[in-house]
Amino acid sequence: MRRRIFALSMIAAALLLFMIAAHAATTQAAPPADTPTGNPGRGAYLFTLAAGCGCHQGAAGFLAGGEAFEGPFGKIYPPNITSDAATGIGTYSEADIVRVLREGKRPDGSQLFPIMPYPAFSGMSEQDQYDLAAFIKTAPAVSNKLPASVYSVPIPPFSPPPQPADAPTGGVARGEYIVNTISHCGDCHTPTGPTGAPDFSKFLGGNTDFGSANITPSNEFGIGTWSQEQIYLLLKTGKRPNGTQVGGLMELVINGGLKDITQSDGFAVAAYLKTIPAVDSAPVAAPPQTLPTTGNVLNQTLLGAMLAFALVLLASGAWLWRSARRVN
Ligand code: HEC
Repeated sequence: MRRRIFALSMIAAALLLFMIAAHAATTQAAPPADTPTGNPGRGAYLFTLAAGCGCHQGAAGFLAGGEAFEGPFGKIYPPNITSDAATGIGTYSEADIVRVLREGKRPDGSQLFPIMPYPAFSGMSEQDQYDLAAFIKTAPAVSNKLPASVYSVPIPPFSPPPQPADAPTGGVARGEYIVNTISHCGDCHTPTGPTGAPDFSKFLGGNTDFGSANITPSNEFGIGTWSQEQIYLLLKTGKRPNGTQVGGLMELVINGGLKDITQSDGFAVAAYLKTIPAVDSAPVAAPPQTLPTTGNVLNQTLLGAMLAFALVLLASGAWLWRSARRVN
């Protein structure tokens, strides 16, 4: 189960890196606003929309650190993020946690590895980030010391994408915000092209590497015949209109939090999914990919470094997911 969550996080991180690389040259961060105060109640709901911080969950207790993840990029311990001052993040202010979400940086300025999905959370509104941070700060202190992570590859630099002044509250804009920022459905539902980057010409058209479905409005290949209520019920219960139950990664995403999506947000997601272009073909697999053989990612351009990283994350995530399926 936890390996699947690791796999999911890696896949998410990889695909977000692609998106950020693609937009890096044309985007600029929003101007700073007045610092908000987080509301932990609202943060709890954002926590469920993001399917929980599953990597930080383990035997030690709620958010007290997860199982080590070992991959081609080293051995990484999802840290204890409870309010314990000595072994957790009890000394972090809300603003410190927001900086982690927005920039992927610790209070000392060091960059986190993008297995932590800050590339996604970066695009949330500042208020939403403060709310999520306020919720994280309510996690009761648990003393659990983890070893330091070991990185075998360089951590790519990160420029935060534009951030909306306020999170959309309803309708298609709200659905778009949830799908592309908090819940990032495209990480599993969009196929990747020969370079490993998402093939946006088939946005949400399904990717057989992750066993995902075409969720575009195509009547034949997607969910064009589903009503908005049927889409909402799928997100909440995992039940398709024909009565069958979804499994695999989608079941994880639902159990991890989407099951608690509000009716209004569920319908917003459904409304947004109705507006995207129909992809009139079955889900496809990513074409075979090769990692750069010249090796030194540091000497590439920023874009090249991010794409190479994303390839490693994607391949490892897919491998973890496959091996987790064998075990379970
Ligand atoms: C971690 C990967 C992952 C994420 C993230 C994800 N999905 Fe899925 N989704 C899947 C997989 C895999 C399936 C197929 C499950 C099966 O066939 O049992 C699926 C199935 C579905 C289906 C059913 C389609 C059908 O025809 O049966 C819908 C609808 C759906 N997802 C919507 C979404 C939406 C909306 C989001 C974002 C809020 C989302 N998914 C996020 C992996 C994911």
